[in-house]
Formats: sequence, structure tokens, C-alpha cells
Amino acid sequence: MKTLITGGGGFLGQKLAKALAEVGEVRGEKITSLTLCDVVPPAKVDASFPVQTVTADISDKDAAAKLFADNPDVIWHLAAVVSGAAEADLDLGIRVNLFGTLNILEAARHSGVAAGRAPIVIYASSCAVHGGEEPEVIVDGVELNPQTSYGAQKAMGELLLNDYSRRGLIDGRGLRLPTVSIRPGKANAAASSFMSSIFRDTLQGNKSNCPVPRDFSVWHTAPRTMIHNLKHAAEIDGAAFGANRNLNLPGRTDSIGDMIDAMTSVAGPEAEALITWDTDPVIEAIVVGWRAFYLTNKGLSLGFKADDSFEDSVRFFLEDDIEKAAG
Ligand SMILES: NC(=O)c1ccc[n+]([C@@H]2O[C@H](COP(=O)([O-])OP(=O)(O)OC[C@H]3O[C@@H](n4cnc5c(N)ncnc54)[C@H](O)[C@@H]3O)[C@@H](O)[C@H]2O)c1
Repeated sequence: MKTLITGGGGFLGQKLAKALAEVGEVRGEKITSLTLCDVVPPAKVDASFPVQTVTADISDKDAAAKLFADNPDVIWHLAAVVSGAAEADLDLGIRVNLFGTLNILEAARHSGVAAGRAPIVIYASSCAVHGGEEPEVIVDGVELNPQTSYGAQKAMGELLLNDYSRRGLIDGRGLRLPTVSIRPGKANAAASSFMSSIFRDTLQGNKSNCPVPRDFSVWHTAPRTMIHNLKHAAEIDGAAFGANRNLNLPGRTDSIGDMIDAMTSVAGPEAEALITWDTDPVIEAIVVGWRAFYLTNKGLSLGFKADDSFEDSVRFFLEDDIEKAAG
């Protein structure tokens, strides 16, 4: 199996690459190659199969086509300009999230024709496609009503994924990701960045600001669970998704206050003392438009997983990702 990850230098791209290197196979067949593409040079990943790193911009049609030179069988399309950045720069978001996605789908289409079979394309959409005049609890089949440019661009990608799949050009699987917390490393430009930073940074002994109140509810999932679900998306039969190849991934709803209490129960009270509570109207305006409550029957019936508790997410972070102070 030849595999490709766009956004392969990012948070989930790197974790997915390491997970593929560990398991060494997809759909019961050995992985024979992995290409990691990113607009910034992706870090190398050790594996028993060849891993190629490519620095390329998917909004460049020719550069996107070149990524498909070996006709990959499974593509995880994770490259994107994230929510805060896409809201701040409409042109950039449209270029990467809409046209970049179209470029990847077109390249997959032509590569599939050359290879004589439709490649599997797993698309990272977002729960930001939901909002506005939608029910408080999102169920499968609810219309999309994004309240940000990022959400609108992700929703357009979903429609393209469906149409290319309906035509048999690709075998698409679109996953609407909950906020992935606790994200390691540095804060990013996602409006949801604080949903990781108030745990990650404080657990690492640094201050962090929470721009929303304690009773603000969040739809979230842990990185470990997310990587399981990204891998799982390649394993199931595409037709099982039905006419809509996109679904809401399982996740958890917790209030920020309950998540902080979970952190305290696992790691002690020191971290919470480092949280400040200054409101941020820009962040609040974006995240209040997101939905926190979902019933994900379709995702669960297809074998996608949800987390059991946020305590687990804290433990996973301490085991997998915490940056230990030197010395
Ligand atoms: N992490 C989350 O909480 C979350 C939630 C919902 C959806 N998602 C989606 O999941 C995917 C992965 O998210 P992530 O958290 O790993 O984000 P990330 O920002 O860490 O990774 C995205 C990668 O895409 C790359 N990229 C940006 N523009 C590019 C371009 N023009 N060409 C090639 N690469 C480009 C970035 O350099 C980055 O490394 C994204 O599509 C994101 O929208 C993530």
C-alpha cells in the first residue's frame, strides 16, 4: 500500500505517520511507501518502509499533482489553514482549504484513472461546519450551517468529496473532527487553541489564559483516539458511509470547569493555579458558534471510537506528549 499524508508536518500528520510506521499495514496489506507533504518541511519519521518528505504547497495545482506521481492507494488529506488563521485571512483560507482540497481531489482522480482504481481519500473536516440555526444537539443528517470562513471552506470540501465519490473517481471518507485536546507543542492559530493550552501549558509549569467561562461546553477528543479514528477510516468499506461520505466523529462533551477538575484529579492542583480568566471577544465570537452536543450514531456504528473520560486525555498527554523541563 502506497500512502500519502498532506499536512504531514502538522500535529496530527506527524502522529499519524508514527502510528502507521508502528503498525506497518493498512487494510491488511503492508505499507510499501509513505509520503509526508507539508508547506513547511515535515520532520522525518522512522519506519520499516520508505518515508519521503516533500515540502510543497497544495494550493499549487502542479505541486499537488506531483504528490501523486506513484499513484498512492490511501491519502489522508490533513493540510489546512486552521480556524483562527482562515478567519483572519479569507484569501489564504480559500486558497488552501478550498482550492488546495480541490487540487488534492483532482490529483487523486487522475491518479486513480492511471492506476485503474479509485484511491481512498480520508478528509479532515471539522465540527465547525455546524452552527447557527441548527438544533442544540447535532444528529447525523443535520444540514451544514458553518458560522466561520474555515467552517464554510471545510463544508465545501465535504460536498466535493461526496460528488467525486458518487462518480467513483475516489473512495472518500470525510471525518468532522471534534477539537483535539490536549494538543502538544506550541499554541497554534486555531480559535480552539486555548482548549489545549490551559492544560498543556499549565501541566508544563507555564501560565495560560482561558478566554471563556468555566461553564463553557466543549466537544472534544484525545489525540490518541483521533489517530485511531484516522487509521480506522481507511479500514472500513467506503460504501458503508452511505450517500453522504462525511460524518460527525464520536467525541465527548465536557465543560471547561469539568475538564480542569479532571486535570486536577490526575495531576494535582498546581496546574489550575496557573490559569488566568481574561475574556477574549474575538475568540469567544468564533467558538460560541460551534456546537458542543452531538449524537454520533453513524460514526459509532462504523466502529469509530469516543473517549471514556477527560482524565484519560490528561493521562495520555502525560504519557505521550508532555515536554519535560531540562535537568
Ligand atoms: N486539531 C484539531 O483540533 C482539529 C479539529 C478539527 C479539524 N481539524 C483538521 O485536521 C487537520 C489536521 O489538523 P492539525 O491539528 O494537525 O493542524 P496543523 O496545523 O498542525 O497541521 C496542518 C498542516 O497543514 C500544513 N499546511 C497549511 N497550508 C498548507 C499548504 N498550502 N500546503 C501544504 N500544507 C499546508 C501546515 O503547515 C500544517 O503543518 C486540518 O485539516 C484541520 O483543519 C483539526
